[in-house]
Amino acid sequence: MKATAIASPNIAFIKYMGRKDEVLRLPENGSISMNVSNLLTTTTVEFAEHYAKDEVLLDGETEEGEGSRVVKHLDRIRKLAGIQAFAKVVSKNTFPTGTGLSSSSSGFAALTVAGSAAAGLQLHERELSILARQGSGSACRSIPDGFVEWVDGATSEESYAKTIFPADHWDLADVVAIASTERKAISSSIAHSTVADGPYYRSRIARMPGKIVRCKELLETKDFRAFGELIEEEALDLHVIFMSAGIIYLTPQSLEIIKRVPFWRSQGLSVYFTLNTGQDVHLICERADAESVVAELKKLSVVREVIVSGPGRGARKIEEHLF
Ligand code: PMV
Repeated sequence: MKATAIASPNIAFIKYMGRKDEVLRLPENGSISMNVSNLLTTTTVEFAEHYAKDEVLLDGETEEGEGSRVVKHLDRIRKLAGIQAFAKVVSKNTFPTGTGLSSSSSGFAALTVAGSAAAGLQLHERELSILARQGSGSACRSIPDGFVEWVDGATSEESYAKTIFPADHWDLADVVAIASTERKAISSSIAHSTVADGPYYRSRIARMPGKIVRCKELLETKDFRAFGELIEEEALDLHVIFMSAGIIYLTPQSLEIIKRVPFWRSQGLSVYFTLNTGQDVHLICERADAESVVAELKKLSVVREVIVSGPGRGARKIEEHLF
């Protein structure tokens, strides 16, 4: 059987970093995110007896090896469905991979929805989120619509994401500034298993429940300035944790963009930044200000591409297949 799904990556306002269970990908802390409407992954999966092995084609490149993360995820799906057949997987992104745009979140969300449907499983949103989480933690947040909370949970069944506000709750924009398409040298997975050794990690974890409560309050009241201050502080907090564990994702280009943001604010443009594992910068503003943010970014020679998105839908099946 063959099935196709699309999914958006999500941008976390309060970030997931560090795991209390490496195998199940149970996070140390809860997180809050928004799906990013104009970045899209489309994935087609077909399980069939005539495939002699799993064939995986991501953005035109073959992913090799039985141990690959995609093959491991296919194994989880096969186990749930009680099937043995190998699969063909073709996946395409409308945006660069491995530069800080969270391609693994949309990738594993789309793979989960397409793969489970192709295997004949009928899973509910919560089950899909739990399954996606095991492929890539943040992928669990790309399953539900809009603004999403991932509750950390003590067990696999308790650790899933759910919508806290629908996509039309608040007309926010995520203006992504792509500074370079070079893949990051250190994967998020390595970061998750390295950060706990850093000197500031435990104090961050102690502060996370308070940040979650505050973020939900500000999403509810739509106080953009306070919200922006919170998410910018959180992005810097995350990168302090990286740097103090010897991991540096930011490039001179990212810093050049980030350093402009307080200046733009001093000129009356209400915009704040957030960052993931990678060099690309997410500029968060209200929709009405998105064009002005784009205009400012286009003045910077370090910015190669700008993509404007709003709050997006969750992962879903579509009828048109990639092969
Ligand atoms: O899901 P992963 O393993 O790609 O980790 C995501 C890590 C961050 O993007 C930095 C934070 C987050 O919550 O998305």
